[in-house]
Amino acid sequence: MQNTFAMIKPDAVSKKYSGKIIDMVEQNGFDIVRMHKVRLTKEGAHQLYAIHKDRPFFNEMVDFITSGPLIIMVLAKDNAIQAWRDLLGATDPSKAAPGTIRSMFGSSIGNNAAHGSDSPENAAQELKLFFPDLK
Ligand code: RTP
Ligand code: MG
Repeated sequence: MQNTFAMIKPDAVSKKYSGKIIDMVEQNGFDIVRMHKVRLTKEGAHQLYAIHKDRPFFNEMVDFITSGPLIIMVLAKDNAIQAWRDLLGATDPSKAAPGTIRSMFGSSIGNNAAHGSDSPENAAQELKLFFPDLK
């Protein structure tokens, strides 16, 4: 079993898609190890998106991710990091495969419903940032 860090972003939370996305989590064989509804501070967003700090849309990302509550989760499954990325689909919802979370619940490249760690290194960092007590 592997852990990954997953987040339901403010766009999906405000549209009341959380339940549908959590249902997909469970139907696809992930265990929900931890789950919290939180609001990110600017400082937390800067830490989460540190790897994107030089991108032109960095400030937009920070504004969006701090715009409302989000749901953060630790998900466990065999090969969870890749499996969750596969279930998310492509970053741009219009390019995401049918049946993926972003194709079903995302509305634009910025408002793309959910996040997932993209590598074991980033998963370890994100898990430590949001769930420092997790072993
Ligand atoms: P995420 O980190 O949210 O799971 O998304 P990702 O790995 O598929 O994409 P990444 O390259 O890490 O980008 C992080 C977030 O930045 C926003 N983005 N906007 N305006 C743009 O061209 C653009 N490109 C990326 C997206 O919201 C993406 O989720
Ligand atoms: Mg990413």
